[in-house]
Amino acid sequence: MIQIAPSILSADFSRLGEQVRLVEDAGAEILHIDVMDGHFVPNLTFGPALVKSLRAHSRMRFDVHLMIEAPELFIADFAAAGAEHVTFHLEATDHAHRVIQLIKEQGMTAGIALNPATPLDGLKYILQDLDMVLLMTVNPGFGGQKFITNVIPKIQVLHRHLQQTGSSCLIEVDGGINLETVPVAVNAGADILVAGAAVFSHPDPHQAVEKLRQAAHSMINES
Ligand code: DX5
Ligand code: ZN
Repeated sequence: MIQIAPSILSADFSRLGEQVRLVEDAGAEILHIDVMDGHFVPNLTFGPALVKSLRAHSRMRFDVHLMIEAPELFIADFAAAGAEHVTFHLEATDHAHRVIQLIKEQGMTAGIALNPATPLDGLKYILQDLDMVLLMTVNPGFGGQKFITNVIPKIQVLHRHLQQTGSSCLIEVDGGINLETVPVAVNAGADILVAGAAVFSHPDPHQAVEKLRQAAHSMINES
C-alpha cells in the first residue's frame, strides 16, 4: 500500500492547524515535518515546539525529517513532543549507528535520508536496523523544486535489494512529487511519497491528497 505524506513545509503557517486537518480528513495517515537548521541546509524552519502544538490537533503519524547537523542532540526532544518517527541525514553525522539506537531507545521508528548525490553504500552495515530509507529526489532545503530523475536507479536498486533480503524497511521519496512523478516513483519501488507543494500550493489540499493517492494506486493496479 503506497502512502502519501503531506509535507507542511508548503502550508500556510498562519492557519497550520486547519491545513493539517484538511489533509487528515482527506485520509493522509502520515504528516511529514521538515526540520532545518540553516547549517546542514540553507534554510530554517521549526523545532519540537511546533510538533508538540500539532500533536494535540492530529492523530496522524508524525514523520520528522531532520535536515540538521548533530541530530543526536534533538532526538529526545522530538520524542517528548510526540513524534513517532525520526529520519536524519547520513551526511550529517559520523555516528549513524548511534543515532539510530537513540531514536529507537526513545520508542520511535528510525529512518536515514540520503541526498541525491549520496550513494547507497553507506547503508550497508546499518540497513538491517532501519525502518525507513528516505531517498531525496531534490536537494534538501526548499519545497517546490523539480524531481531529479538521476535518483530513479537508486530507488530501483534499493527496492530490489530490500525485496531480495525480505526486509520490511520502507522507501520514502521526498521532493518534486506531483501527479506526473508519482507513477515514476511508484514504479521504481517507493512506498511513501512526500508531497509539499503538490498538496499545499494546490487550491484544494484535500482534493490534491485524493488525486495523488489515486495516481499511486492506479500504478499498483496496473502492475
Ligand atoms: C525539502 C523537504 C521536502 C519538501 C518537499 O528539503 O525535505 O519534504 O517539503 O517539497 P515538494 O513536495 O514541494 O518538493
Ligand atoms: Zn522532507
